[in-house]
Amino acid sequence: MQLTDNTIFITGGTSGIGCGLAEAFHKLGNQVIIGGRRKALLDEVTRANPGMRAVELDIADPASIERAAATLIADYPKLNVLINNAGIMPFDDLSGPVDDATAVSTIDTNLLGPIRMTAGLVGHLKRRPRAAIVNNTSVLAYVPLATSAVYSATKAALHSCTLSLRFVLRGTNVTVTAGLFPRGASPVTMTS
Ligand SMILES: NC(=O)c1ccc[n+]([C@@H]2O[C@H](COP(=O)([O-])OP(=O)(O)OC[C@H]3O[C@@H](n4cnc5c(N)ncnc54)[C@H](OP(=O)(O)O)[C@@H]3O)[C@@H](O)[C@H]2O)c1
Repeated sequence: MQLTDNTIFITGGTSGIGCGLAEAFHKLGNQVIIGGRRKALLDEVTRANPGMRAVELDIADPASIERAAATLIADYPKLNVLINNAGIMPFDDLSGPVDDATAVSTIDTNLLGPIRMTAGLVGHLKRRPRAAIVNNTSVLAYVPLATSAVYSATKAALHSCTLSLRFVLRGTNVTVTAGLFPRGASPVTMTS
């Protein structure tokens, strides 16, 4: 993916890796729009980075995703990059009772969220030159952490979906990447 001259939507841009990516892409002159639930943090990050924009988004809520996608397409017609970064990592222990609400929320946020967000924007992205979709997975997609089993499973599933998406978008202008952004390290991209 070209690192400049893009209009980029980053889910989970209010903290951590998403915020770091947003600021780095903003410094490179890209139009960056961040998404997240915490309005106060969206405002704080955009205030600190003049020109950066924000869209309220709960990636676990299909209606919120639909609203955000419609807003992005209407307000930022040059949008050409989607970075599916928002995620949660609860701990669990599959040897005992599992908290069902936590498991469902992890799957909604980490797996169905990126699938739905992509579905909401892929039609638009196919019409943009140099479009890209980046799914932030994890090394835990390959080697599960037994104490975050559901999280690890969502990242493995997201990696699988990324490969399928790349295949069905082959021959289009949309590149698809699984990105690993470990804390304290430079972004690493996986192309297979
Ligand atoms: N940290 C690592 O070492 C590491 C390594 C590999 C991969 N990852 C992946 O990288 C991504 C970011 O991790 P991080 O460590 O930067 O986490 P973080 O600091 O906890 O940030 C998570 C971000 O996701 C957003 N988010 C969570 N639930 C959301 C929801 N329902 N709707 C919208 N946004 C939501 C949060 O925004 P709001 O709370 O404002 O909504 C926040 O901006 C995750 O997908 C994670 O699995 C992390």
